[in-house]
Amino acid sequence: MEWTPDARELADLELLLSGAFEPLTGFLGHDDLHAVHEQGTLADGTPWPAPVTLHLPADVSPGDEVTLLDPEGLPLAALTVSAHGPDGLTSGPVKGLGAPEHGPFARLRRTPAEVRAELGGRPTLAVTMRGPLDDLSEIVATAKELDAVIMLLPLSYGEPGPAVVRAALRAKEKLPEDTIVVSVPLAPRDEPEIDLELREHVATAYGATEHLAGPDPVHIPGPPHRRGLLVFFTGLSGSGKSTIARGLRDALLELGTRTVTYLDGDVVRHLLSKGLTFSKTDRDLNIRRIGFVAAEAARHGGLAICAPIAPYAATREEVREMVESVGADFLLVHVATPLEECERRDRKGLYAKARAGLIPEFTGISDPYEEPDDADLVIDTTHISIDTAVSQVLGALKSGGWVR
Ligand code: ADX
Repeated sequence: MEWTPDARELADLELLLSGAFEPLTGFLGHDDLHAVHEQGTLADGTPWPAPVTLHLPADVSPGDEVTLLDPEGLPLAALTVSAHGPDGLTSGPVKGLGAPEHGPFARLRRTPAEVRAELGGRPTLAVTMRGPLDDLSEIVATAKELDAVIMLLPLSYGEPGPAVVRAALRAKEKLPEDTIVVSVPLAPRDEPEIDLELREHVATAYGATEHLAGPDPVHIPGPPHRRGLLVFFTGLSGSGKSTIARGLRDALLELGTRTVTYLDGDVVRHLLSKGLTFSKTDRDLNIRRIGFVAAEAARHGGLAICAPIAPYAATREEVREMVESVGADFLLVHVATPLEECERRDRKGLYAKARAGLIPEFTGISDPYEEPDDADLVIDTTHISIDTAVSQVLGALKSGGWVR
């Protein structure tokens, strides 16, 4: 079978394949993880600081071979499954199938063996960095003292990692000419000491004789009125969500302080998601597509509005994560007009058809709607006007600082 690991797992995979994680040859299983946790070694006693795991929810058995793909579908590695737990934790050795091409700054990715050969055993100070290096004087002084080559290892993975690589290239301009920059896709570990040990391990693998950890990035999100935002309306068909969403769009355009991307339900279903049905799989895909486009708008500080039924909680959560992973915010508005009222209005005549059995899998009638328990705002339009509903959403945007 084939499987595309997530961004963290792909980062680990790349380091397993490049040799930066030597002596590891694959993803760890329960026994090794237990030993790592308890005593900082693998089950056989080999020192190893950090968990390196893969989750594969599909059904696989020991001995199976799984082709691991990059996000663009290119085969990266063959995994031979050693064990597969009920939680999806999958261990086993990996073998490279092709040089990784995905992700930004591929030209700065180099294997430890290549870099060690270039260094030729010279004393080397490696600086691992997750954020910009503002003060280069300590690095220069330490390198001088050791008579060492400086190697910058920006640790980036996924988005928005490229910023740290750019920071490394800027720092290099101010450092001695033979400074080497190698981009290393090392995902951070939860515990700082373990993260540091792993950084040291990788630096050593690249031939460093000394390691200096760069300062932690200070993450200062922009003010909310400049940050990206997705206002996500969810609710039954006929609940009034599209009408409120359109009203909100118009109100925002009138204010004129934010750019607005309105992902109209009909436009989505006729263009972006054309051909998709109302099966669970297709509904989920529809919502993920909306999430993808909205996250792209929000990435650049845009405000996006969408109003699909989005009946499944897990899929709404996925969209929240997509949006938050680009540094933007997510506001969930549940348009909670009850089914009886939606059906009484039946503006498109669809409920009557669904009751007559003419439309299968109709949300609220013959298909589920999972009520959100994490909505930022709940609006029932039974007894309020559209204007009032729009003002409530606009009020939430103002009090959250997204709109001034
Ligand atoms: S979602 O489930 O994938 O989020 P979406 O919001 O795009 O649904 O489309 C819902 C609209 O499609 C409804 O307002 C209704 O007009 C129409 N529709 C057609 N068939 C169905 C169905 N089986 N269930 C719900 N809505 C349907």
